[in-house]
Amino acid sequence: MNQASDILPEDDLKVITTNARAKTDISHIHEFLGCQTSTKWLEVAKKNLPLLMQDHANCEKKAAGTAMNLIFRYEFHRDLQESLAQLVREEMLHYEQVITLMKERGIDWFHLPAGRYAKGLLKHKRTFEPAAMVDVLIIGAFIEARSCERFSALAEVIDDEKLARYYKYLLKSESRHYEDYIRLARSICDEDIDARVAFFREVEKELIDSPDDELRFHSGVPTFS
Ligand SMILES: [Fe+2]
Ligand SMILES: [Fe+2]
Repeated sequence: MNQASDILPEDDLKVITTNARAKTDISHIHEFLGCQTSTKWLEVAKKNLPLLMQDHANCEKKAAGTAMNLIFRYEFHRDLQESLAQLVREEMLHYEQVITLMKERGIDWFHLPAGRYAKGLLKHKRTFEPAAMVDVLIIGAFIEARSCERFSALAEVIDDEKLARYYKYLLKSESRHYEDYIRLARSICDEDIDARVAFFREVEKELIDSPDDELRFHSGVPTFS
């Protein structure tokens, strides 16, 4: 069990949010995704940080849960076991960090149902193996890549300096998670996954670029101000 004192200095929340960090290059993320976040989403997000932080906390927990399910389901795959075990650890650390930041800001925990994003991607998952596994890993890559793109964009516009630093800190691990998912998807099958990646790129782009009545971390263009 990881005690607070066992956390590496580079992952300590106080260190992260007081030290400015070198810029992480995420140009490969921009190339991978089909579109960038709209200014409308950023404007609305900036005004609703407590809701966004709650959804972010939920996303970290879900990311760990999804990876854990894959670990149980595909126990024969050694590389997947190792990469995802690390990912679960990191997502749970992020979860703890986000709830600490919420507490610091006096934001009470509240129930917030998931938006349409993950469901909108997962409904296209094929139902036979290994195709189902390939699709889940590609979807995981898009979710991680989009998170990364949004952390980077948010860090540039929010007035909360401490939170902006935290979002910049997340870029490194979230972009590695995206790379891990893509690498694993390529390694588990003989199929050329490029066509499938291109397909999910279009689905993801549509979810991000089309009007959305709800604000969530991965929601589309808000229909409200
Ligand atoms: Fe995370
Ligand atoms: Fe992640």
